[in-house]
Amino acid sequence: DIVYLNGAFTQRQDARISPLDRGFLFAHAAYEVTAVYGGRLVDFEGHVSRLRNTLDAIAIPNPHSAADWEDLHVQLLHRNGLQEGLIYLQVTAGAYDGRDFAGPDVFTPTVLLFADHRPLIGPVAEHGIRAIFLNDIRWRRRDIKTTQLLSQALAYRSAREAGAQTAFMVEDGYVTEAASANSWIVTEDDQIITRNLSSDILPGITRAHVIARLRDRGLTVEERAFTPDEAYAAREIFTTSAGAMIAPVVQLEDRPVGDGKPGPVTRLVQRLYYEALG
Ligand code: PDD
Repeated sequence: DIVYLNGAFTQRQDARISPLDRGFLFAHAAYEVTAVYGGRLVDFEGHVSRLRNTLDAIAIPNPHSAADWEDLHVQLLHRNGLQEGLIYLQVTAGAYDGRDFAGPDVFTPTVLLFADHRPLIGPVAEHGIRAIFLNDIRWRRRDIKTTQLLSQALAYRSAREAGAQTAFMVEDGYVTEAASANSWIVTEDDQIITRNLSSDILPGITRAHVIARLRDRGLTVEERAFTPDEAYAAREIFTTSAGAMIAPVVQLEDRPVGDGKPGPVTRLVQRLYYEALG
């Protein structure tokens, strides 16, 4: 495995990061996960522009132009022979002498990229997954992609203990999003609903792409919050993310969603999204 760290491509076992790195001590870091399909980056512009927003919000200077970020991603995927999988990028606020909460006036970032070979259109896309409900206990800036992921790591552990593959997070009586994906429902009368953007959820790049594809087809997407009861009553449920693309949710807690199989709207969304991958 070849990784990129601070200006050089190296074997993963040779990459070294300081124990005083603020990513490690304070989760002071931005990250992005970009899908690679057929050896090509998916929706890369969206990821780079969201990275810029995250870095701005957490006072880390952006060390590269969009073109340089793309070049690093492409080099990394070539060096790893990555055809299908993910590229993980993390930019931390860097390492300094000691553990000072505020840190220096200007940060010198640590930049790490690595590749993850895995099927993106596989059994999950075909057969779907089971979700449970959990309280959303995350911090209030879910609109930026930082590495404050402990609550989500624990959410996945709870899901696994319950025999599920993900969790739908609930706050003030409404679903925010899934553990690491945006959540969608299709109602009995065929309305397609996904939560509106705000600081309560991550503005998913896959979510934006799917909304655009559906609107191109003349279909209406209603962007609003929905309740767990609306999810129970939904005919179809799916999630969108770079990590699992379009994942049908076929069981919610102990109840089947619709007839317990991925439904026609989910299949349409998958088809439209896969077509755009070329
Ligand atoms: N997660 N919501 C949350 C909380 C997420 O962590 C993610 C992505 C999404 C979907 O965003 P996008 O379509 O841009 O991937 C929504 C990535 C894949 C991860 O943490 O691995």
